Amino acid sequence: MSARPVVVVTRRLPEPVESELARNFDARLNRDDRPLGPDGLREALRSADALLCTVTDKLTADVLDAEPRRARLLANFGVGFNNIDVEAARERGLSVSNTPDVLTDATADLALTLLLMVARRAGEGERHLRAGAWTGWRPTHMLGTQVSGKTLGLVGMGRIARAVARRAHHGFGMRVIFHDPYPPAPEVAAELGVEPREELEQVLREADFISLHCPATPETRHLMNRERLALLRPGAYLINTARGDVVDEAALVEALRAKRLAGAALDVFEREPQVTPALCTMENVVLLPHLGSATQETRVAMGMRAVDNVRLFFKGEPLRDRVV
Ligand code: DGY
Repeated sequence: MSARPVVVVTRRLPEPVESELARNFDARLNRDDRPLGPDGLREALRSADALLCTVTDKLTADVLDAEPRRARLLANFGVGFNNIDVEAARERGLSVSNTPDVLTDATADLALTLLLMVARRAGEGERHLRAGAWTGWRPTHMLGTQVSGKTLGLVGMGRIARAVARRAHHGFGMRVIFHDPYPPAPEVAAELGVEPREELEQVLREADFISLHCPATPETRHLMNRERLALLRPGAYLINTARGDVVDEAALVEALRAKRLAGAALDVFEREPQVTPALCTMENVVLLPHLGSATQETRVAMGMRAVDNVRLFFKGEPLRDRVV
């Protein structure tokens, strides 16, 4: 029997996924869950046939230059793959896969969680109560903003944005507008109950809530910069479950300080796990530690999807989720 492919798994994964990996491959698991860092990743590239990596492993061109390299596949645990220099991977003949679809619902749920939390001041209310500051019900206490009937502006209209649109429009009675350079067919938009806008700026000017759903690319870096944040309606809210560097955090702090925005709800940050300290001091900001796909069911499904890609690769079959 030929040797089983060596797969370095860069972080702890849910138990069913680790068992599946161990059944199928010579899996090198990361039992103590410490990030490998650049040197550990280089060593993995030299010693393994594939890496099952995560969105926090920075596989830069420099790291991918590890010699002599044995690895031929980077199976990313995550739909986003901005942690990998995919052009450098392609040039070096490395294949890359990701895990789309399986995290769509969980991430859309979290976008709605953030939207409701920031609109209804849920984080602030919880802090207030835990601090023992609550003196009892009163008609004017901690009033938030109704979401039904308001306009949600989606930046991007991919899988997750569509799932958000469905929930917001059909579930919460919101009007949904969007901008995507590659918009869905009109019949898809009609079924979702969403209205396209030619220009991103139109969405920013019109919406009460903006939710970001674009990938992190050089073009979308700081898409929400000072100028675009200035276009938002006074009293608008910004929600980000996409990637941190789509938002210029310094400009966001300025806009919040100037009360040009009513609030922001963020699951992702420019310099994770660091968070711009000013954000942590603002009551009208909801902050979560990158939990978009963090349900037991979804993380198992993501792992199984990554395992599928590794399995197909070593059987010589086309990757299910080929990035390059
Ligand atoms: C992804 O998959 O890109 C998420 O950010 C991590 O779940």
